[in-house]
Amino acid sequence: MSDDAKSPLTSRHSTGLTGRIRVPGDKSISHRALMLGALTVGETVIEGLLEAEDVLATAAAMQALGAQVARDETGQWRVHGVGVGGFSQPSSPLDFGNSGTGVRLCMGLIATTPIEAVLTGDASLRKRPMGRVVLPLEQMGARFTSSEGGRLPATVTGAQRGIPITYTLPVASAQVKSAILLAALNTPGETTVIEAVPTRDHTERMLQAFGADIATQPEGNGRRITVRGYKELTPQPITVPADPSSAAFPLVAALITEGSHIVLENVMLNPTRTGLVQTLVEMGGDVQIHNERSAGGEPVGDIEVRSSRLKGVSVPPERAASMIDEYPILAIAAACAEGRTEMKGLDELKVKESDRLAAIVAGLAANGVPHEVGDNWLVVEGSGPGDRPRGGGLVETHMDHRIAMAFLTLGLAAREPVVVDDGRMIATSFPSFMSLMRGLGATIAEA
Ligand code: S3P
Repeated sequence: MSDDAKSPLTSRHSTGLTGRIRVPGDKSISHRALMLGALTVGETVIEGLLEAEDVLATAAAMQALGAQVARDETGQWRVHGVGVGGFSQPSSPLDFGNSGTGVRLCMGLIATTPIEAVLTGDASLRKRPMGRVVLPLEQMGARFTSSEGGRLPATVTGAQRGIPITYTLPVASAQVKSAILLAALNTPGETTVIEAVPTRDHTERMLQAFGADIATQPEGNGRRITVRGYKELTPQPITVPADPSSAAFPLVAALITEGSHIVLENVMLNPTRTGLVQTLVEMGGDVQIHNERSAGGEPVGDIEVRSSRLKGVSVPPERAASMIDEYPILAIAAACAEGRTEMKGLDELKVKESDRLAAIVAGLAANGVPHEVGDNWLVVEGSGPGDRPRGGGLVETHMDHRIAMAFLTLGLAAREPVVVDDGRMIATSFPSFMSLMRGLGATIAEA
């Protein structure tokens, strides 16, 4: 994306956000639905697929690998898969745009299929570390030729016959875990992944539903997951619930703006994803869950939110995995709370779509929000109930959708408008962000 085509956005003080909304489908589940659909023989029907750039890149990649992917109507897609091990060699590079999940999981899919593929992405994705996935997949027999520092573009040559491994994750990453589990499907024998803290388990849940030979056991505070390979997968209809990581923005917007009362419908409430809700409740947020049910193998519910007087809390490092994508918006809630909010164990934040720790800190500084930062921690000093954050800053988003949405949310509660330098990346995960937020009564516009 060129700099001169940047599309700045401004948000201004807003009150009384009201309405019932359904944010788009979960990004993690949408990627996985397309990928598992591509691995089955037969037709997988997906409802509520997130039609955002990241997921569309995965759909195109599955097609390039030989699956048939068709869109029937908004959110409703059909995938005709090629079976485990059935991918064919793509004729051109697979471009995953901004999506770390898309490219890393796809590396796992290709690692144990005897084909060669070139994988690439946008400027942000080309800066992100791939070594964490390459290392275990090389142990499983794949070969990688990557750019300097293990970055994209990379050429993957899949193993003729995968090698089963037992791998303890050195970082809490669902993407690394999932890449190994997907590679294990076309590998003889048992492949085991051990994680010290539970990370999002959508791959495991979906593999189970599709009839894979998979078992999960608790191990210490984490989990041991074992897949026995060479089992055919059976297509299952998938209904994608709303993405809690997208719901997080209107949720916090309602908490920090006066006189607000909203309902977020059908939000996925998988416990590996609810760290933000837990933290906001601890901060005194009026957040109520109704109508809890199960949909497509995942817990879901409706979230009712009212404006609240938040107070600072200490967020423990062991919660980081369950809210890793939510620290930018938590920092905004913290900026409006009374007292200090401490966030620890933030190492992984530095290797997201941007160095999110640095991007959050720069955004807070630009908007007059007092804070302290260390190598892997952040403390935000809130404005308290009698005041509001100053705002008035120009925030650099560094091609990061969540930095853009978080600081636009700050502008709704701040004394002065907040400008983000580029809103284009919002389309990678939440294309309807602007219209849904405006529908609730938020003042956000092109700058
Ligand atoms: C994701 C895992 C997380 C998360 C990302 C989606 C997934 O990344 O940040 O947005 O769908 O598996 P890591 O696995 O790198 O923590």
